[in-house]
Amino acid sequence: MPTLGFGVFQVADEQTEQVVTDALAAGYRAIDTAASYGNEEAVGRAIAASGIPRQELFITTKMWIQHTGEDTARREFDKSLKKLGLDYLDLYLIHQPMGDYYSSWHAMQKLTGEGLAKAIGVSNFYPDRLVDLITHNDIVPAVNQIETHPFFQRHADQEIMRGYGVQIESWGPFAGGKNDLFTNPTLTEIGDAHGKSVAQVVLRWLTQRDVVVIPKSVRPDRMSQNLAIFDFDLSDDEMAGIAALDTGKSMFFDHRDPEMVKWLGGRRVD
Ligand SMILES: NC(=O)c1ccc[n+]([C@@H]2O[C@H](COP(=O)([O-])OP(=O)(O)OC[C@H]3O[C@@H](n4cnc5c(N)ncnc54)[C@H](OP(=O)(O)O)[C@@H]3O)[C@@H](O)[C@H]2O)c1
Repeated sequence: MPTLGFGVFQVADEQTEQVVTDALAAGYRAIDTAASYGNEEAVGRAIAASGIPRQELFITTKMWIQHTGEDTARREFDKSLKKLGLDYLDLYLIHQPMGDYYSSWHAMQKLTGEGLAKAIGVSNFYPDRLVDLITHNDIVPAVNQIETHPFFQRHADQEIMRGYGVQIESWGPFAGGKNDLFTNPTLTEIGDAHGKSVAQVVLRWLTQRDVVVIPKSVRPDRMSQNLAIFDFDLSDDEMAGIAALDTGKSMFFDHRDPEMVKWLGGRRVD
C-alpha cells in the first residue's frame, strides 16, 4: 500500500468532492474514508471525475459497529462499494473492535476470496484484541489503523504488529493539532534545521518508522506540503528527540473506556 495517503474524516459531505479532487490533483493516490464519515458518495464522484486509472488508486473504507455481523457486513460492503462507484476495494477495515466483528471478519475473508476486497484489516485494535482475532481466524489483518503521533507513539504496539505481519497505519498524525503540536519547540527546531514545517517533520518521522500515514487537510497548499516529505531524512538524534515527546496516552479517548464503548456502540450512521 502507499506509504502516504489522504484522509477525509470530518470533511463535510458537500465539501468532500472538491477536497478529494484537489488531493488527487496534488498527487495523492490513496484515499481513506469510512461509512461513518458520511462522504463515500462524494469521494466516489471525485474519483470518477478524475479519470485516473483505477489500478493507480488505493481506496480504503471502513465498516461501522452498527453493521457488524456476517450478513450485515456483506450488505454494508456492497453499499460502500456502490456509494464509491467502484467494483473492488483495495482495503476494507473493521472500524472499531466492537460489536460482532468476528462474524464480520468471516464475511470479509470471503470478500478477499472473491477479489472484491484486495486486502482486509482493522482499526483501533489494541494488541490483545488483534492477537485474539488473528489466533481464531485464517487471514491475518493486513493493516491496523490506530491513533499514532508524537504524543502517542505506539512503539510497543508496532513491534507486536510487526511480529504478526500487520502494517501499522497512523490516524491523527498531527493529533488533530492538540497539545499545541504545530508549535511544539522540539518539532519546530527540527523543522527549522531542514527548512521543513512541523507537519512535514511529523510525517517524515512516522514514515521513517515504517508507519503508513493518511493526513487530512482541506487546503491545497497543505495537501502539497504534506506530500513533500521524502526529500530529507531525520537523524538518529532527531528521532530520539521526538521519541521523548511520547506520553503513552491517547489525545482523544480510550477505546477501552466502558462509557466510550457504550457511546460508540449506540452511534447510528444511517
Ligand atoms: N480509524 C479511525 O478511527 C480514525 C479516526 C480519526 C481519523 N482517521 C483517519 O485519519 C485521517 C487523519 O486524521 P485526522 O484527520 O483526524 O487528523 P490529522 O491529520 O492529525 O489532523 C488534521 C488537522 O491538521 C490540519 N493540518 C493538516 N495539514 C496541516 C499542515 N501541513 N499544517 C498545519 N495544519 C495542518 C488540518 O486542518 P485543515 O484541514 O484546515 O488544513 C486538520 O485540522 C482522517 O482523515 C481519517 O481518514 C481514522
